Amino acid sequence: MNTRSPLRIAILGSGKGSNAQAILDAISEGRLNARVVCVLSDVADAFILERARRQGIPAEFISAAPFKTKLEGEGEQRYLDALNRYGAEVVALAGFMRIIKPGLLAAFPNRIINIHPALLPAFPGMESWKQALDYGARVAGCTVHFVDAGTDTGPILLQKVVPVLDSDTAATLHARIQEQEHVAFPEALQLLAEGLVRIEGRRVRLTQ
Ligand code: GAR
Repeated sequence: MNTRSPLRIAILGSGKGSNAQAILDAISEGRLNARVVCVLSDVADAFILERARRQGIPAEFISAAPFKTKLEGEGEQRYLDALNRYGAEVVALAGFMRIIKPGLLAAFPNRIINIHPALLPAFPGMESWKQALDYGARVAGCTVHFVDAGTDTGPILLQKVVPVLDSDTAATLHARIQEQEHVAFPEALQLLAEGLVRIEGRRVRLTQ
């Protein structure tokens, strides 16, 4: 019997929210012992907010202005205030298209995780599935990692591999990777919920 209380997860996203949906589905199907306490987005009309509201999850657009690509200064403070107000224990970046800066990292040490659509350290940055295809990689995949001060550089928690097919376009490869993201992200969060994760330098160890 699981006696731990549900992990309080805040999801941050900028887009359609399919990973947020996968997390919510895993919770309702009993595969993830967690509660999504809020969904926050830097994009006012992002579908991730609509999905959350439909399921009764508090969902807020929070401006990250004045910056366009990072979360810093006043914008960062607004996010910190919301995360504290909702009592978040872990922050899950599910397609949140901003660089996280030291203020948020210090407030949630080793408690911010990100899903990235490539097998890191290959292909960090934007449209990584397209980078993999253009490079001619034979395998691609996704990575769940802890967030540190770099871009897509933190310790790796979990990875899933998919083949790159001769017939692939950027869209078909991205879809195959996303299927695995939807498995990997809830699995990674469940490892945190069970308290099994220990970080030693760059290595993440799973222990009882
Ligand atoms: C996901 O594919 C995620 O890996 C990617 O954004 C997508 C969000 O999809 N994230 C990044 O590229 C971060 N560098 P979703 O809104 O449907 O979950």
